[in-house]
Amino acid sequence: MVAKKNLCVLILAAGKGTRMKSSLPKPLHSVCGFPIISYLLKAAQALNPAAIGVVVGHESDQVIETIKSSLTSWQVTAPIVFVKQTELTGSGSAVKAALPLLQKFETVLILNGDTPLLQVTTLEQMIKQFEEHPCGAMVLSVTVPNPSGYGRIVRGETGKFEAIVEDADADLTVKQIAEINSGMYLFNSKLLQMALTQLSPQGPKNEYYLTDTLGLIKQMNQPVSVYEVPDFTEALGINCRAQLAEAEQILRARKAVALMDDGVALINPQDVYVDEQVQIGADTVIYPGTYILGNTSIGKNCVIEGGVYIKDSTIGDNVTLKMGTYIEESTVEETCQIGPYAHLRPQSVLKAGAKVGNFSEIKKSVIGEGSKVNHLSYIGDTQMGAGVNVGAGTITCNYDGKNKHQTIIEDHVFVGSNVNFVAPVSVREYAKIGAGSTITKEVPAGSLAIARSRQVVLEKKGVKKND
Ligand code: UD1
Ligand code: CA
Repeated sequence: MVAKKNLCVLILAAGKGTRMKSSLPKPLHSVCGFPIISYLLKAAQALNPAAIGVVVGHESDQVIETIKSSLTSWQVTAPIVFVKQTELTGSGSAVKAALPLLQKFETVLILNGDTPLLQVTTLEQMIKQFEEHPCGAMVLSVTVPNPSGYGRIVRGETGKFEAIVEDADADLTVKQIAEINSGMYLFNSKLLQMALTQLSPQGPKNEYYLTDTLGLIKQMNQPVSVYEVPDFTEALGINCRAQLAEAEQILRARKAVALMDDGVALINPQDVYVDEQVQIGADTVIYPGTYILGNTSIGKNCVIEGGVYIKDSTIGDNVTLKMGTYIEESTVEETCQIGPYAHLRPQSVLKAGAKVGNFSEIKKSVIGEGSKVNHLSYIGDTQMGAGVNVGAGTITCNYDGKNKHQTIIEDHVFVGSNVNFVAPVSVREYAKIGAGSTITKEVPAGSLAIARSRQVVLEKKGVKKND
């Protein structure tokens, strides 16, 4: 999109967020794994404006610090101008604090910092409408089932915009109005500046309402229009924990629909937790109760059973993850099978066709192509080649109380059950390890190592047979 050289986007995020009842500033509360403010910044960036400003106030240092250090992970590369609002006396004061920035531009898009469900396409259409039918101000409205708490759009007899009346100041008639102010507005910058100078404190908290500027602009005989949006969920403002949970549910539902549109089968779309940026290939089947989070991508034709948790991982095509599998920061190549109840800890790599089964834990290890760790094992700091079979209950003893050490198991090694590898140790290709062995020295290629005491069978004295 062409840079909108006359447009500035201003995000208001200075409020106290009192109703969250939290020590964490409201903009930093997480929805589907990302702070609320990140959604606003991403949307602002997508509009390609000339400048993006964020008004901060409550816990401003923490908010600025977190935003600055997270921009890369949110893929926000546009420069952000932070404006500090020193006295938290309402959304009108927040915009006033940003005047030095705003007056450089013809048009200002103002977004409340607590509406993460807004869609870029909606804002684009609103901007287009504003360009085609210039006016002093335009407010985005929606009609909601429960308007309580929101500013109401009051229209005159001809249906034209009259004013926004805040919930706290609304009489019974106004409270009946279901059309609400979303907190997203486009302004002619000059008129906004003029209106801001005329604001007076209002309501029970003596606040300067940004919403009053629209009525004031109208009184200047400048047209104010309402841009109505059918999907009211886009305007959900997050003021309390219940609304935070509601936003999370709506975003997840949107993601579920997007996945299904891409050919993913969700057995119960209400019961999967898939983060926004996760990618999943067609014909993959996802059972209920799964968490697929962070920077994760999953290939085609996979089966992800219930209770599976995957975070920041890459899963190839045709992989089966059985119930209860837990995977973090790992790579699983095509046709692998994992679980039930297996754990891949960070920096694990399963090469194509590998199998990790029941109650096995893998940490910072490579499991080679087609190798199997099927039962009750712990494999840590290990380089395992292809075609290895690891017997039940095998443990790499990688920690000596001070340091971690590596185990190397080369191609086609056969490990019997209940073997301990005391690292650092290497087992060369085609070697075989007898069951119950504790391996402390290198095992040469093709050899058989047995490291356990021999069985002794003694006759029990003074006891008759079959006693
Ligand atoms: C606001 C609107 C209301 C609208 C609703 C939509 C006003 C007066 N009312 O109400 O008409 O229906 O949003 O969600 O704007 N903020 C500051 N500095 C302040 C106070 C607030 O930056 O001093 C920021 C907040 O961080 C927030 C936004 O402004 O992002 C709106 O403030 P909030 O207190 O949430 O307003 P609402 O009561 O929800
Ligand atoms: Ca709000």
